Amino acid sequence: MEFNTLSRLIVISNRVQPPGAASSGAQGGLSVALAAALREYTGFWFGWSGESTEQFTGHINFERDDGVTTATIDLEDQDIEEYYNGYANRTLWPLFHDRVDLAEYERGFAGGYQRVNERFAETLRPLVEPDDAIWVQDYHLFPLGSELRKLGCENRIGLFLHIPWPARRVLSSLPMAEELVSTLFAYDVIGFHTDEWRDSFTEYVTQQLGAVLNDEGDISLGGRTIRAITCPIGIDTKEFVAMSQSETAKLSYRQMRESANNREMIVGVDRLDYSKGLEERFLGYERFLVEHPEERKEVFLLQIAPPSRETVETYQNIRTALEGLSGRINGAYADIDWVPIRYVNQGYRRDVLAGIYRAAKIGLVTPLRDGMNLVAKEYVAAQDPEDPGVLILSRFAGAAIQLKDAVLINPYSAEEMADAIASALRMDKPERIRRWRLLMDSVEKEDVVWWRQTFVDALMTDDRSDDSVDIA
Ligand code: G6P
Repeated sequence: MEFNTLSRLIVISNRVQPPGAASSGAQGGLSVALAAALREYTGFWFGWSGESTEQFTGHINFERDDGVTTATIDLEDQDIEEYYNGYANRTLWPLFHDRVDLAEYERGFAGGYQRVNERFAETLRPLVEPDDAIWVQDYHLFPLGSELRKLGCENRIGLFLHIPWPARRVLSSLPMAEELVSTLFAYDVIGFHTDEWRDSFTEYVTQQLGAVLNDEGDISLGGRTIRAITCPIGIDTKEFVAMSQSETAKLSYRQMRESANNREMIVGVDRLDYSKGLEERFLGYERFLVEHPEERKEVFLLQIAPPSRETVETYQNIRTALEGLSGRINGAYADIDWVPIRYVNQGYRRDVLAGIYRAAKIGLVTPLRDGMNLVAKEYVAAQDPEDPGVLILSRFAGAAIQLKDAVLINPYSAEEMADAIASALRMDKPERIRRWRLLMDSVEKEDVVWWRQTFVDALMTDDRSDDSVDIA
């Protein structure tokens, strides 16, 4: 069954940031990608405003900005604590990033998560028209599809997971995991960034829940059939390339080069999150300084790490740890005219960042586990084609599957990271250009437009046999 190409697309995510927020530097890669996807469709982007209210009323605030309509609701403090800070970021986030040691299991979190998903469904339901396609984003909203079905929604509903899907053994440590994962069968299509995570999902639902995988790759459970697809997200490459040539980017490039004072710059840009491998990055860089004393004053690391989820204790801990580590390394190696690490805790506008990326000889992206990592792609897109820098990328980022021509490393090995930095600094121009061209081909081909089209096509095209399309 082909869906009417004029049907509206409703995108739902926990956080909704109007496109205008880009100018403040507040936007993450995901919200930039969603805004770009929505500009192509009629419809709207629904989610939490980021604000709190004393009493949840279901009032929806509609706004239109740069071709995108947003519809946002405020949540109560208790909702934010249990659903966002609690179940989403203290339970699911660590668990899905293989940090069972950091995952917290509290019934109150699970209850708040369910309540907010019901609130999302009840508020959204009256806005949904029969032909709309609904596209839910990420781990905050797993039960939303099932809540919408309970309210009689028979629309096509898809889910995209932007974080890894953990191994079955890891997920089994989550209380009520089976119940939570079963609700995902309310969706029609579920998207993952890599085959590994899609396969891990399939393994869990077939082995643990008894779902049946058919020859076409569709999965059935309890009268519902879903399709799990791999569809890695990209950046708005054309826009980012243009941004890297803007006046603002040129100015930030020049300022960065001047302040580098003929030294080579290594750059890292990450939300301050324990999944990003920032401690390992600092230690790998320190190892490089130890093993290459002759390079010490020839290079520096600029680490930009805006704080994230600040009320969650594990995020406070990583911040404290990084302050200690950067202080210790700077104390041990700095000289009166050189500091090895410039550690900055604020965010920058994307056009300013584009100039900074271009000024860096090395982009250092070392997550221990990461759904995709769009910084790696932005670093590639910002380079000067005639004299590009080198991307050093963790094997454990989803992006490593596409960006095979980066210098791929194991972030747990300080030695490997130190060697990679040394060889990237020595890499000759023809080799840098050769690698960059291959990386850029991927960033251009599988961009955000391709991602959105691939997912929405899968969502809107129902080629399953009729008896399997049983909307419960
Ligand atoms: C990750 C998640 C996104 C989230 C973003 C920023 O990329 O996959 O869903 O929006 O981090 O995190 P925050 O908690 O600030 O929304």
